[in-house]
Amino acid sequence: DDLEGFIQGLPKAELHVHLEGCLTPDLAARLAKRNNMNLPESVSKASSSTGFAFHDLISFLAVYYPAMSVLQTPQDFHDLAMDYLTIAHSQNIRHCELFFDPQAHTSRGVTFSTVVEGYSSALTKAQTDFGISCSLIMCFLRDHSADSAMTTLTSLLSLPKSTTSLITGIGLDSDERNNPPSKFTEVFALAREHNYNLTAHCDIDQQNTLSHIHQALHDLKVHRLDHGTNIIDSPDLIDYAIKHNIGLTTCPISNSIVTSDFKGKEILELLREGVKVTVNSDDPAYFRGYLSENLLKLVRETDVMWSEVVRMQRNAFEISWVDEERRVMLL
Ligand code: HPA
Ligand code: ZN
Repeated sequence: DDLEGFIQGLPKAELHVHLEGCLTPDLAARLAKRNNMNLPESVSKASSSTGFAFHDLISFLAVYYPAMSVLQTPQDFHDLAMDYLTIAHSQNIRHCELFFDPQAHTSRGVTFSTVVEGYSSALTKAQTDFGISCSLIMCFLRDHSADSAMTTLTSLLSLPKSTTSLITGIGLDSDERNNPPSKFTEVFALAREHNYNLTAHCDIDQQNTLSHIHQALHDLKVHRLDHGTNIIDSPDLIDYAIKHNIGLTTCPISNSIVTSDFKGKEILELLREGVKVTVNSDDPAYFRGYLSENLLKLVRETDVMWSEVVRMQRNAFEISWVDEERRVMLL
């Protein structure tokens, strides 16, 4: 219909998608076969028609990490990223910043450079073949130690710059309970010294979200907040976000599954107050919706105006970490 054509035609940017969250049951099965491995049980229980089963962040993560065991070689990481970028291109996504979780691989014996090499070659190919611009955001798993995060950053800093140039940002994800942003103050400070852009998941409906948002902004000094819609409860934090151009990367379908609230009301209120809100897909293979489906959900289930959907995509280009020359072309 008209709406679907409008969403499809809109030039888009995606700023919150986890590469490991793009692993479909079908691709996992292909990679398991190629690597002569048994399919992990968390995957074999999912079929391509029913998808994975979970009801909150913890049960999601319990399926998500075991499924990654099929990722072994640079080619596996390349194929995973290429499959996603092919879909992104088909949805008229012009710029994309992709999260990845090195510790989810190094902790099971896959080297840091295997991961970076595989993802980087796919991004380079997509930039050439599709004319999309893309970069990587390296996340620390917040339920691992601060030392482990520091080891991961050291791995990044010790590789030749030419092999890591697509990594432009640092993020923080995984289980937020009892893992406040302040745990990572030191490692974020080092990343900042090396000019990486910074962001952190401040998930909704967790205990202490407002204090976590405050720590992310003031201790980690992040430039964006991933999810972060709980900021709605603090006029001070909203003022700070507007004043410092701190964007929010919200993910409606993901939130509707892991918290049973897609936060449509909060997204609209924050947008209308002037916060740079964007819509994104999070883990599309698991939550079964890419960027267009997330936008369609928001339009169908709220009174958002089409002009506001355009504004959210402009926001995404504005708060992206693309180089200025490319940004001018995107805007
Ligand atoms: N939240 C926290 N960690 C994650 C997520 C998420 O939505 N997706 C992948 N890792
Ligand atoms: Zn996420």
